[in-house]
Amino acid sequence: MRGTIRISIRRADAQKNLAPQFMTYEIEAEAEMTVLDALNSIFYGSDSTLAYRRYRCGRKLCRSCEVKLDGKVTRGCATLLRPGGKYTLEPARPEALIRDLVCDFDSPPISSER
Ligand code: FES
Repeated sequence: MRGTIRISIRRADAQKNLAPQFMTYEIEAEAEMTVLDALNSIFYGSDSTLAYRRYRCGRKLCRSCEVKLDGKVTRGCATLLRPGGKYTLEPARPEALIRDLVCDFDSPPISSER
């Protein structure tokens, strides 16, 4: 199941007073890959300025990998992307944004999407 995975990622920096922008990345994939593996592929392959949490607990427990995939909060370490698919990634908690896909875990959630 080889193909291109296209991901539009919301880029923003809470330290800068600039409007968020979506950047689109393409990954050539031999098979399905997790969101976290796709982000690693982008970071190490084409754009090391992308901010996301690279830590992986390996047990689906820590939630450091949470992102909003096509509008739904999900765990990036356990959610698969298909070759040929087009996806949108945003921070899981934009109200607690630090940069790009990194949010402040210590900030209480104000939405009910969790
Ligand atoms: S990396 Fe720990 S839950 Fe995803």
